Amino acid sequence: MTAAELKLFFLLFYSLWPYYLVAVNISHLPGFNGELPFRLETGYVTMDEETGAELFYYFVESERNPNEDPLLLWLIGGPGCSGFNGLALDMGPLRFKADDFDGKLPTIVANPYAWTKLASMIFLDWPIGTGFSYSRNHKDYFTDDVHAKKLIYGFLKKWFLDHPHFLSNPFYMGGESYGGKMATLVAHEIVEGNEGGPQPLVNIKGYLVGNAITGDKVDKNSQVPHAYGLGIIPKEIYKLITKGCVGEDYVKPQNAACAAHLNVFNDYLSEINIYSILDPKCSDEPSSLEEIVGAGRSLEENSAQSLAQPSIPDTSCINGDLLANYWANNHLVRKALQIKEGTRGRWHRCDSNVNTSYIRSIPTSIPYHYNLISKGYRALVYNGDHDLRIPFLGTLEWMKSLGFTILAPWRSWHVNGQVAGYTVMFSNNLTFATVKGGSHVAPGKRPVECGAMFERWISHEVV
Ligand SMILES: *[C@@H]1O[C@H](CO)[C@@H](O)[C@H](O)[C@H]1NC(C)=O
Ligand SMILES: *[C@@H]1O[C@H](CO)[C@@H](O)[C@H](O)[C@H]1NC(C)=O
Ligand SMILES: *[C@@H]1O[C@H](CO)[C@@H](O)[C@H](O)[C@H]1NC(C)=O
Repeated sequence: MTAAELKLFFLLFYSLWPYYLVAVNISHLPGFNGELPFRLETGYVTMDEETGAELFYYFVESERNPNEDPLLLWLIGGPGCSGFNGLALDMGPLRFKADDFDGKLPTIVANPYAWTKLASMIFLDWPIGTGFSYSRNHKDYFTDDVHAKKLIYGFLKKWFLDHPHFLSNPFYMGGESYGGKMATLVAHEIVEGNEGGPQPLVNIKGYLVGNAITGDKVDKNSQVPHAYGLGIIPKEIYKLITKGCVGEDYVKPQNAACAAHLNVFNDYLSEINIYSILDPKCSDEPSSLEEIVGAGRSLEENSAQSLAQPSIPDTSCINGDLLANYWANNHLVRKALQIKEGTRGRWHRCDSNVNTSYIRSIPTSIPYHYNLISKGYRALVYNGDHDLRIPFLGTLEWMKSLGFTILAPWRSWHVNGQVAGYTVMFSNNLTFATVKGGSHVAPGKRPVECGAMFERWISHEVV
């Protein structure tokens, strides 16, 4: 088919398609001073007409040249963490300002190092029950890897049908943490779909994942040497575990002595913020949210609460994660984002019910990485090196196990004349990079360095 025929095909398909996508352009957001300096679209895509399952997304158009710049579909982890994490706590175009928080509506500002300066990005609330995604049927709130990857691919196809002008842009899947596992599975689903399946053809060039879970035992086992290296456990305990747990999966050890050593290890971990070991361990669920959520409720319900002063949490724990929960539960925000009324109660940055009920039915993403990279898709795998949840040691170990040739061994990469991390280049366009000082969400902690890394990689340059 020629491009013109393709366009006609989509127009025809689109006109026959039932009503399945509602999108709005958002020019102003509560807490942001003035007009947004980029195009933000929010929307719902109907995934199942019968049950009323709808996925909510945030779409940010590239500020450079949206007609030609790459398009990324970005997945946050958990499962159950909202795409909003990507928009405002990560590489997205917004950030919270923590220092002037008064317990009410948080202030948001533009992120000068956003990846959306040079790429368009969709941040998805997946699966159903996450962020603002919802269904009328409670069964839709229970899902697993196999259904989730199909759901997300289905979402993407419907989004393209409504935005056909983006079909020719280079497309990349991306994600962090559990979203990194899912991004790999979805990239694979897209490639298979392109090979045999129905239109639309997705112009996929590759994928990128950050502090990505694989599901393999390497994720947990590598915590032990990393915790030792970071000074969380002493040499004695490190030795007890490595000697007593040979061949074990540290998540579910069979040997009793090994299990006992690992209990001690897990006690050490439980005291600290394993996602960012230099930061305090905090809850991101505000204790006094009722008066904020209550603003949208009935008068009677509200009157008692409106008398209470909003309580401000401990300053060392006022961070973007906490402020996101204040912000998204404000009724002004829901109005601005055009959230359908009555679809969701309290919004959670990460929904623990989704995380608990989700079935991790695909045990490891490693074969999917192998398959994609073997087929010539580009891949960037990066890790904040101060994350103990998914240590870079484990990531590099499974990457080496894929068997691709190392073209350039461990060397430093630089930003502004300083070492920003270390990188290993494999054959088949597979790149590994650490982000020095980076956390589980490396671009949130190291925006300048990660911005430079992304710009180089997406421009086909060496990191
Ligand atoms: C949003 O704005 C863009 C660019 O101006 C326009 O092409 C698009 O149709 C608008 N979308 C909606 C849903 O109004
Ligand atoms: C989700 O649950 C897993 C355990 O199944 C846990 O390790 C992880 O921290 C949870 N994630 C979130 C964001 O709560
Ligand atoms: C690596 O990517 C380039 C495009 O950036 C492509 O031309 C080349 O064929 C790829 N190499 C392999 C081995 O897939």
